[in-house]
Amino acid sequence: MQIIQSIEELRSIIREWRKEGLSVGLVPTMGYLHEGHKSLIVKAVSENDKVVVSDFVNPTQFGVNEDLSSYPRDIDRDAALCQEAGASLIFHPQAQEMYSKDHCTFVDMDSLTKGLCGKTRPTHFRGVCTVVSKLFHIVTPDRAYFGEKDAQQLAVIRRMARDLNFDITIVGCPIVREADGLAMSSRNTYLSGEERKAALILHKSLMLVEEMMKAGEQDAAVIEEAIVRSMKTEPLAEIDYVEIVDAETLEPAAKIDRPVLTATAVYIGSTRLIDNFSFQPQTF
Ligand code: PAJ
Repeated sequence: MQIIQSIEELRSIIREWRKEGLSVGLVPTMGYLHEGHKSLIVKAVSENDKVVVSDFVNPTQFGVNEDLSSYPRDIDRDAALCQEAGASLIFHPQAQEMYSKDHCTFVDMDSLTKGLCGKTRPTHFRGVCTVVSKLFHIVTPDRAYFGEKDAQQLAVIRRMARDLNFDITIVGCPIVREADGLAMSSRNTYLSGEERKAALILHKSLMLVEEMMKAGEQDAAVIEEAIVRSMKTEPLAEIDYVEIVDAETLEPAAKIDRPVLTATAVYIGSTRLIDNFSFQPQTF
């Protein structure tokens, strides 16, 4: 399995695949891969002749005080995981390959990106949309795979693909969790032993939401209150947001009478973790 750093080289490989009539899947990542990423790659391998995994810590999606320089990287380990999962190649460009010094074109969005993570990370989704558009143009995949772990990102990418007429099927993949329920994330590596235990409060609180919704509670405010109360039992956790929103528009949902997303971001020490729970009422 090759690791390609140049856009031109990647394009010429993809041209050859296309001449042979092969289908192409893309799994965009920022590397430091874990079983969550692997599940996306395995699904892509099962649905496409060739699979490109991009492994690029995208500078434009990090805010000024965020963890761009400390974001974990290990391309050798990533290569082993991709090989095992059956990927065809890794696209691993340098930042200057993706962004010229005078790069000044960005893809942005009016709605969907303002709430939830967009509140504390106002330029994040502009960076995500820009890099994903670039990857879509470079790889021209038939299908692209994204995790439900980043539910807002998935909704944003679906909308961008529709609005900008990308001829690419966006495939959402379920959240992969550790045995104790913590959603897998490259950022979990920042957690100390004590913080790792505290981080379980996200999943625990979301399970409470599941219980309440399945029992028929329809008032979002009541459920939000319960989840905040649950989060507050963990002294190391500081809530960034807890919100119940419409699964498609990401607008606040007052009543659980349609598909909804309960999304949360919580600081455990200085590490910001996200998690979510999707629910579709029976009567919908
Ligand atoms: P990254 O955080 O590396 O995640 C890459 C993909 O893996 C995303 O689609 C994400 O939702 C998915 N993923 C991460 N953890 C997961 C888990 N526990 N279960 C299932 N899927 C999981 O998301 C990004 O990178 C970047 O924003 C990117 C889209 C690559 C643009 O730079």
